[in-house]
Amino acid sequence: MSHSSLSTTSEKPGTWEPKIAAFFCNWCTYTAADLAGVSRLKYAPNARVIRLMCSGRVDPQFVVDAFAKGADGVLIGGCHPGDCHYVEGNYKTLRRFEMLQRMLKDLGIEEARLRLEWISASEGEKVKTVINEMVAALTALGPLNLPQRFSTWDEEMDKLEEAAQQQPQADHNEKTEVVHAS
Ligand code: FES
Repeated sequence: MSHSSLSTTSEKPGTWEPKIAAFFCNWCTYTAADLAGVSRLKYAPNARVIRLMCSGRVDPQFVVDAFAKGADGVLIGGCHPGDCHYVEGNYKTLRRFEMLQRMLKDLGIEEARLRLEWISASEGEKVKTVINEMVAALTALGPLNLPQRFSTWDEEMDKLEEAAQQQPQADHNEKTEVVHAS
């Protein structure tokens, strides 16, 4: 497969806009986003909303996949604690979110690229605020470019292999010199 298919036009200087994958619970945040639209509350059009029946349905793999497929940020929106229609779905979300935060930190991915918010159905204004804040934070960080980073994988591994193969040779030469000197 040609790697050129992974590059996006959004990376042209001056035209880049952050892309956000937004996983919203049907019962609260999704309804709030709808309300924001109906109320003409203006929020940045950078979020691609994915509706789920509960934030607890957001498998950590979905988040990883979103980043791997080109998202610059991931937003998870769920019902406030105590309001989940499936009782404990959002507590599960919180535990997964904390695990993902640690994992992304280990991978060197900035904290602001993943956000969890409790937004009830009546909080259209909060949807607007959160999305606009996230767009501003991601714009400041710049593109994550994970697909592009993967596209240079072979090149990076070639360099690593070269460096790894040279290192023992240098050590060996040093040792050889020491033997001759003594
Ligand atoms: S139903 Fe909304 S978070 Fe569970």
